[in-house]
Amino acid sequence: MGTVYCALLPKPIMKVKVPTLLLCLFLSLATTVVAGGTPSPSSTPSVHPTQYTSTFNRSLFPPDFLFGVGTSAYQVEGASDIDGKGASIWDTFTKQHPEKIWDKSTGNPGADFYHRYKADIKMVKEMGLDSFRFSISWSRVFPKGKGEVNPMGVKFYNNVIDEVLANGLRPFVTLFHWDLPQALEDEYGGFLSPKVVEDFRKYADFCFKTFGDRVKHWVTMNEPFSYTLNGYNGGTFAPGRCSNYVGNCTSGNSATEPYIVAHHLILSHAAAATLYKTKYQAHQKGKIGVTLVTHFFEPKNNNDADRKAANRALDFFFGWYAHPITYGDYPASMRSLVGERLPKFTKSESKSVKGSYDFLGVNYYSTYYAENAAPVTNKSFYTDILATLGNTRNGLTLGKPTDLGWLYVYPRGIHSLATYIKDNYKNPPIYITENGVAQSRNDSIPINEARKDAIRIRYHDNHLKFLLQAIKDGVNVKGYYAWSFSDSYEWDAGYTVRFGLVYVDFKNNLRRYPKYSAFWLQKFLLK
Ligand SMILES: *[C@@H]1O[C@H](CO)[C@@H](O)[C@H](O)[C@H]1NC(C)=O
Ligand SMILES: *[C@@H]1O[C@H](CO)[C@@H](O)[C@H](O)[C@H]1NC(C)=O
Ligand SMILES: *[C@@H]1O[C@H](CO)[C@@H](O)[C@H](O)[C@H]1NC(C)=O
Ligand SMILES: *[C@@H]1O[C@H](CO)[C@@H](O)[C@H](O)[C@H]1NC(C)=O
Repeated sequence: MGTVYCALLPKPIMKVKVPTLLLCLFLSLATTVVAGGTPSPSSTPSVHPTQYTSTFNRSLFPPDFLFGVGTSAYQVEGASDIDGKGASIWDTFTKQHPEKIWDKSTGNPGADFYHRYKADIKMVKEMGLDSFRFSISWSRVFPKGKGEVNPMGVKFYNNVIDEVLANGLRPFVTLFHWDLPQALEDEYGGFLSPKVVEDFRKYADFCFKTFGDRVKHWVTMNEPFSYTLNGYNGGTFAPGRCSNYVGNCTSGNSATEPYIVAHHLILSHAAAATLYKTKYQAHQKGKIGVTLVTHFFEPKNNNDADRKAANRALDFFFGWYAHPITYGDYPASMRSLVGERLPKFTKSESKSVKGSYDFLGVNYYSTYYAENAAPVTNKSFYTDILATLGNTRNGLTLGKPTDLGWLYVYPRGIHSLATYIKDNYKNPPIYITENGVAQSRNDSIPINEARKDAIRIRYHDNHLKFLLQAIKDGVNVKGYYAWSFSDSYEWDAGYTVRFGLVYVDFKNNLRRYPKYSAFWLQKFLLK
């Protein structure tokens, strides 16, 4: 069995070779232990290698389906203060609040993508992928957030886009992946102020004008939920604001600020999307959307109160953003529970927000239980839901725990979420823009052991199977991006966890080694 599998290892193989025998044995093992079962490769030695088939592969997905991997500027680029780049709130936050970063690190060096983009993009190509997702650092292009352009920043993104295209890949580009220019935070409090909407629109305008001849998939912003929640409810992400009854921040208000910030994020998204559709789309012929993240939620107990709690949780996590851009207003549950603390859309705002996307990007990692809960005095986002969210019931977890506390593996949830979106949000075109799993970084483990990421192979294999089922059930899924291309800077977790398909040796010049999951994906993508 191992030998048949081995004979078929894709060629040309990526630069750094895994000892072939090891990989083969390992892959066979990984395949047989996949829950729900990829049929194991034929064990008949007479089967000629070229006839060998792995029956679960990309051929089962629609022909124009895009497979890709993702990155984001702050997590991979490094080079945070060279070549004219201005500071972002993440540069400031990590320097001023090392105590909030598990290993007290910053996004320098990241994975040094700034200097290694050519080799990295080549690896993406060698994996057999169709597309590369990355984000533009706003303050690399506009060091002060507006006004003067940094030519070296523009040149860098031109180079990246050209390199992506030269490798036959499609660029899938996010305009805002949390790294707001510090100058705008200083001037008016960033997304707390409505002033940000116009500055974001101008930044987006510049990007469409400059890069839109080559970029045909635009994402206005990544996970506004995480930016809002972690930045303004819990205070664990930049800019680190919260109430003292929620977290450890010098200022903030977890009862009001998350809703204000979300409101301005939604208006900013809509301003950029409307601009693209009216000024650029007819001649550039691209599509624009926004990437939202949510857990899926199951009722903890089989009763009406918990079923309603699960629906509320989906409203607060996903509907918060998806409902306005689909229907022009916040979900009814949020309007009633948050009350006066929830900003209102004017008639004209509502009109511009409604329908402001061609596709939805969806990031899915995990599924949680929701249990009905009573109101409390100290208001915050989580208490407003009137639900207790968790993963355990009767001592058993929903999904398998991983090295990263919040991430439980529950592949069925991607099917539930996709069908939920189809049924509640008018069956929009969906790209799964993130899906993946992390392992703890442990530098005592030899690299050749650390690369054997069976957990990641199983994770993607199982999620793709459930995603395929969603497509069969009528969900309009157009693409799947594994998170992440390489190990990188994982926000407050710093460099303590590894999400990559490619191992980065942080101790030795950030050298890259494809993990076994990269080879697995390469094989899955063989045409
Ligand atoms: C992919 O799967 C299909 C159907 O399951 C199979 O016919 C085909 O041979 C497989 N391709 C490869 C390269 O394994
Ligand atoms: C609300 O928060 C304040 C400030 O942290 C705290 O002193 C108080 O005990 C909290 N009230 C309740 C009911 O939890
Ligand atoms: C709270 O934050 C301050 C800095 O703002 C830090 O010095 C202190 O150690 C933090 N306290 C806890 C309990 O983390
Ligand atoms: C790191 O790996 C080494 C070698 O396998 C092991 O002995 C050690 O317990 C690991 N450390 C942690 C914190 O998991």
